[in-house]
Amino acid sequence: MREYRILPEAEMQRQNGFRDKVKELSESRKETLGRPLMAYVQTFGCQQNEADSEKIAGMCRAMGYEICYEPALADLIMVNTCAVREHAEKKALSIIGQYKHLKNAKPDMLIGVCGCMVTQEHRKENIKHSYPYVDFVLGTSSLHRLPELIYTKIKKGKRLYCPEEKEYLVAEGLPIYRESSYRAWVSIMYGCNNFCTYCIVPYVRGRERSRRPEDIIAEVKELVDAGYKDITLLGQNVNSYGKDVRSEDGEMYDFADLLADIDKIEGDYKIHFMTSHPKDASHKLIDVMAESKHIARQFHLPMQSGSDRVLKAMNRHYDTEKYLGTVEYFRKKIPDVTISSDIIVGFPGETEEDFEATLYMLEKVRFDMTYSFIYSPRKDTPAAAMECQIPDDIKGERFNRLLALQNDIALEKNKPMEGEILRVLCDGPSKNNDNVYSGRTEGNKIVLFDGNESDIGSFVELKIVRAETFALYGEKI
Ligand code: 5AD
Ligand code: SF4
Repeated sequence: MREYRILPEAEMQRQNGFRDKVKELSESRKETLGRPLMAYVQTFGCQQNEADSEKIAGMCRAMGYEICYEPALADLIMVNTCAVREHAEKKALSIIGQYKHLKNAKPDMLIGVCGCMVTQEHRKENIKHSYPYVDFVLGTSSLHRLPELIYTKIKKGKRLYCPEEKEYLVAEGLPIYRESSYRAWVSIMYGCNNFCTYCIVPYVRGRERSRRPEDIIAEVKELVDAGYKDITLLGQNVNSYGKDVRSEDGEMYDFADLLADIDKIEGDYKIHFMTSHPKDASHKLIDVMAESKHIARQFHLPMQSGSDRVLKAMNRHYDTEKYLGTVEYFRKKIPDVTISSDIIVGFPGETEEDFEATLYMLEKVRFDMTYSFIYSPRKDTPAAAMECQIPDDIKGERFNRLLALQNDIALEKNKPMEGEILRVLCDGPSKNNDNVYSGRTEGNKIVLFDGNESDIGSFVELKIVRAETFALYGEKI
């Protein structure tokens, strides 16, 4: 018997009670106003936040709101914030600042702030004192309590600051309003136990807790049956899936087991997952991927730095030799695997030599893509208190050198794809040009092509005719 840490059913029922009461209130306001109530959900940050926002939107709809995409039209605004870098926090605070005018013009409007930024006490205080028109604040441990907060706010009128739960648990069964009808997120676990010294996540998302495999498999099956083509399994560190679960007989069910079981679901779809931690990426996982039918031949494996000294200071628990070993095993088992990475430049104490070691690793691994970040000190994390913080100009200069090298590598990796025939999932007209359609390969590379509306949400076979650094260009065959 394995014991998963799931929020008790009674609490979910209690929230459903609040949900129904809010729905009744929404119905009567709808009659008075002669129009439906509208909710606007704004998301900052990572895919986990996007997935949470789809649950927020799902809960709003269950409470009688329709979803709108213009804050000025909204009766309820939910800002789902991020805390991973200072820039994300500044952006969220600036947007919340702008909503003051909307609230002045429409005093009945409710504004709620949730997510990682306001799970930090100092930010909760910040909102309390500097943003008096924000009606309620709830952190990541209490997202499921949204109906209770909205009901209490409407009935009592007081501003509310939901305290964090003592134990972070998995809330099953929240309604999800998905943005796309063919790409979907499925969270498989929440939280992080790793405490990388630069990272705020373990402080704002609690300890690791896995969902039950049967709940995940049922969700994926439902999506595949509904025609979803691309499903991304989410967790801060998916490779530790199942490790938090207490088991009487010591029986384990890990991420590789989960992938193998999901792969058995019949249908025309691909599974992606993120994020993996190099310390836990096992051969068993790679073997399952190599033998699978539906697991995309793509791997996001954040390296963060190419210097063993810096990796140690980051508390990453692997060195470059182990990292290279994992990449090598991957390429041996799945020769056409696409590998991407996250890199941080300017970690405290990073010397020119350390930085050059990162450049060296980029040359050695030859990632298809990297997501690069300038180190941003996060309050109360160990790295923020380290000596030798790197000046902004040096961080900026290193960041540009890293990008220049990676752009060269990406182009060199893309060029040989000219002439290949690839299956691409079409997303519709590209952002910059309505006449050009855009899609993504199994390896997450963007392909631009001459498509039409009926391609959206379908796999299209394309011959690659030109390859550039950030995109491939294809023709239908
Ligand atoms: N500064 C800069 N980048 C960070 N990341 C996490 N914390 C920080 C920070 N304090 C990056 C890591 C992680 C990605 C999601 O964000 O590279 O993998
Ligand atoms: Fe942050 Fe490290 Fe956890 Fe990733 S593994 S969320 S970088 S602490």
